[in-house]
Parts: sequence; C-alpha cells; structure tokens
Amino acid sequence: MQHFIQHFIVIGNPISHSKSPAIHQAFAQSVGLDIRYHRQFCPDDADSFRAVVEAFFHGGGVGANVTLPFKEIAFELCDTLSDYAKTAKAVNTLCLRDGKLYGDNTDGRGLVADLLSNGVDLQGKKIALIGAGGATRGVILPLMEQGATLSIFNRTLSKAQALKDDFAVFGEMAVYGLDDLATGDFTFDVIINATSATTTDQTLTLSPTLHATVAYDMMYGKPSPFLAHFAAQQSKTLDGYGMLINQAKLAFELWTGVNIELNRVQLPK
Ligand code: ATR
Repeated sequence: MQHFIQHFIVIGNPISHSKSPAIHQAFAQSVGLDIRYHRQFCPDDADSFRAVVEAFFHGGGVGANVTLPFKEIAFELCDTLSDYAKTAKAVNTLCLRDGKLYGDNTDGRGLVADLLSNGVDLQGKKIALIGAGGATRGVILPLMEQGATLSIFNRTLSKAQALKDDFAVFGEMAVYGLDDLATGDFTFDVIINATSATTTDQTLTLSPTLHATVAYDMMYGKPSPFLAHFAAQQSKTLDGYGMLINQAKLAFELWTGVNIELNRVQLPK
C-alpha cells in the first residue's frame, strides 16, 4: 500500500516558540498517523503571507495553522470561510476545499471545549469577557452557542460597544468600562481575561466585590495576577494552555477527519 505523509505548517512572526508542531505530532502519534508539521516564518506583510500560503498548498500541503500577526490577513485571503471565521474576522486554520482556500477559526470552540472538559457548564451561565480585541471577537459566537449570557468589559468602551452591535443578530451583550471592573459589584459564573495585559506584564484593577466561580486567563506560561486575584477568592482558575490544545485538536480533526481523544495523547509540557 502506498504510504502518504501529510504535511502541515504553522505560519507566524515570530514563530520559533510555537508549540504547535509538538502538539500535532502528539495527536498524530495517538492515532498512528505519520505527519510532518513545521514552523513557517513569514515576513510581516500580506504579499509575503499570500506567497507562503500559495507555495505550501501548491506543493501538496494539507493544512496550515495561522498565528500572530496573520490571522486577519488570512481571513482576507480565503475564498470561503466558516461562520466562526466570519464572525471572528480572523482565521487560524487553513486548508483546500474543492481547490479553494477555506478558512476556519477554532480558537473560540477550543476555549469552549476546554471549559466543558474541566466540568464548567455554560448553558444559561453569566460570563464576563474582559477585552474587546481579536481574542474576544473570536470567542463570542461559540460562547453564545452554549447558551451563555455575555458581558464585555473594555478599557476603550467604544470597542466593546462595536462588538455588541456586530453580534446583535446572535444575542444580547452588556458592555462596561474598566472602571466598573475596578469598583463594581458583580458576580459571574465565569470571568475570562482576553486582554493582552498579562503578556505585557500589566495588571488589571479588579474590584474586591467582583466574584466569579471560574476565572480563565487566555494567556499561559507566565504568572497571571488576574488568576491570582480569583484564586484568593477560592475560584476555580484555568489558563489558556487547554484552549491552545483544543483549538489544535479541532484543526487536526478538520484536516485529517480523524477524531482525537485527548486522554490518549501525550501532550508536551
Ligand atoms: P488580541 O487580538 O489579543 O485581542 P488586540 O486586538 O490588540 O489583541 O486587543 C487587546 C485587548 O487588550 C484590547 O481590548 C485592549 O484594550 P483597548 O481596546 O482599550 O486597547 C486590551 N488591553 C491591552 N492592555 C490592557 C491593559 N493594560 N489594561 C486593560 N486592557 C488592556
């Protein structure tokens, strides 16, 4: 029998830190698939990104992941898009469908899968999202699909308001400024930090009367003052590593059609 080795890449800038090759190799190993998955550096401009994508798929590549700063550029480049990519206005997963470039966004469903697998039920629950950038945009539809009610807190209130307007056809959202986060009296089932504050070592001011059963920081790999605040209140805390694994799982399943059982995967640390 002929033995096909499927090729995959993750395109980013910077890219040398990416854990995606190790994660996807671990998935492949768990189901007995022989794959090649490489990091692909790309200069930070749309023409270079297009050239890299075209060369990869022209050369028989099966699937590409897209990371910073190319998710919006990838969205613009695609011929067809999933509803998740359309509403996120960003693409993290590419493949060919009938010869056309198809883009999906698995980040939000990755977050939802991670919450559910940690026993966090979302149906009818009150969720606070902090931030109104690309990270927040990508998770709104998947969270709404779970039947959750969303509130968005953002430093720039107009950006939160714009998201509320964009998603009005899918559901209602409440919007607040950071002052409300700093001084307000709220209780949420889940509070999610989707700002870039943790990455830049900045601290969000959180009200002592802000409570949540579960606190989630989309960042991982460094101490989170946000999670520390809620851990001190005995909230359950989760970082974004599980979201990373689950967005990768969904991409792998889209590309290969093979279902991954995470409890059979030896994940990299
Ligand atoms: P991403 O794609 O990761 O969401 P982004 O689009 O640059 O990145 O958005 C970053 C988000 O983090 C924004 O909501 C930003 O608030 P503004 O909309 O007011 O810019 C938020 N953010 C970044 N640093 C922050 C800080 N120190 N305090 C509060 N919010 C912060």
